[in-house]
Amino acid sequence: MKSSSPPIAPLRDTESSVLQVETEAEVSPYFVDLEKLRKADLDNLRQTGLLGSDGTGVQLLRDKHIEYLSQVWQQPLKPGFVTLDSSRPWILYWCLHGCDLLDGLSTIDDETRCRMVSTLEQCWTPMSIQDPPVTKEEDPQYYVGIDNSTDFVLGGFGGGPMQMAHAATTYASILSLCILATDSTGAEESSSRAKQLLANIRIPLYRWMLSLQTNEGGYRMHHDGEVDVRASYTVLCCADLCQLNTEHLRHEKVAQYIQNCQSFEGGVSAEANCEAHGGYVFCGVAALFLLRRLDLLDIPALTSWLARRQMSYEGGFSGRANKLVDGCYSFWQGGANAIASSFYAPGDQINDPWLERQGDEALGFSLLFDAPMLERYILLCAQDIRGGLRDKPSKPRDFYHSCYNLSGLSVAQHCDFAEEAYGDLEQTRVARTHPCYNIRIDRVRDMLQLTW
Ligand code: FPP
Ligand code: ZN
Repeated sequence: MKSSSPPIAPLRDTESSVLQVETEAEVSPYFVDLEKLRKADLDNLRQTGLLGSDGTGVQLLRDKHIEYLSQVWQQPLKPGFVTLDSSRPWILYWCLHGCDLLDGLSTIDDETRCRMVSTLEQCWTPMSIQDPPVTKEEDPQYYVGIDNSTDFVLGGFGGGPMQMAHAATTYASILSLCILATDSTGAEESSSRAKQLLANIRIPLYRWMLSLQTNEGGYRMHHDGEVDVRASYTVLCCADLCQLNTEHLRHEKVAQYIQNCQSFEGGVSAEANCEAHGGYVFCGVAALFLLRRLDLLDIPALTSWLARRQMSYEGGFSGRANKLVDGCYSFWQGGANAIASSFYAPGDQINDPWLERQGDEALGFSLLFDAPMLERYILLCAQDIRGGLRDKPSKPRDFYHSCYNLSGLSVAQHCDFAEEAYGDLEQTRVARTHPCYNIRIDRVRDMLQLTW
């Protein structure tokens, strides 16, 4: 465990050192020693639900988080959400996956889930081309369903109805559909509709993803859009889950493009020669794992960059050098760290250690960060006592931070060899997410076993 005494002030103040000291002051009341609290304060904490009533430690506010996330399908969103109009599949994924990690999907009835599938279906944006980039001999997958027609349908999911197909909202849509498709208990109709939608769009999606690839092996976020490592990851992740990972999508240049994004700092940036950042590190590391080419990265440089992102006092992660702790990096940095840690797994890199693990079997390699310290940050500083999770105590709760704090908690609880935990693991345990796809491992397994 790292020290929890407040750090020593720097010799010279800078803008970032002042913000850092302010953040430490902001979180320090949350790290109070419970034994030193007065009874009235303890009673108050118990009343909020944050402290167990029978002497057990800090609690995960499971039901309150489920209630907070469920707003999205239970009532219209407030006017402020208009700014997220092009992120509808994202909102659904954040809330659905968050609930899934809390084992809360059984609270959603089949009819509501059918509405989710239909919402996603309305975000599907098809287009057609007449000049395919490959011959049938080169890529039979491209020609599935084509008889005498000259029109090849391509498509991806936009952020809302009639919006442009985009790699990020396609990723959020595919992940949401995978969750809905693989959870059929009491939800047979929605599960079958989600599978049917996936079956209908699979091949057009494949053609669209290929159309995003550049000659240099990068991918665009959308037609005429920017090329960056988020696109590489989201395309490869969707292709894997839909069993479309052909050599055309995965060839050597695709891995080399990502390799070139490793910066001099050791992390990964959006594109070559930029600043490393947790969001892009996750995308680059997960994409290379999906390609089984983690070996292309300078792993000691990467793991040392990742290790330096865990804040020694707060215990949570920051996104990049000289920036502040933020709960969402619990997953972006924590997930990247879990995947990078697998480089040290005994045996070869051919297989997927998370999918292959049976029951509670140990993974065989340790997380290269302090998992209990991260759990402490999430449970004490990121939970809003009304439900929902946040960046840091001074920031409001939101769906995005709820999803990625819970995903980070899952990585910390389930990817560690040491089995050490902060607090009462029985009460705070969330379901196991797959660090590369960020949906539950049982769902990834089911998706990869589907026959199309
Ligand atoms: C910086 O924000 C944030 C970015 C530069 C992008 C973050 C990228 C992701 C979160 C990954 C996206 C992943 C997928 C799968 C599409 P900031 O400057 O406000 O934050 P900071 O101070 O913490 O760096
Ligand atoms: Zn954040």
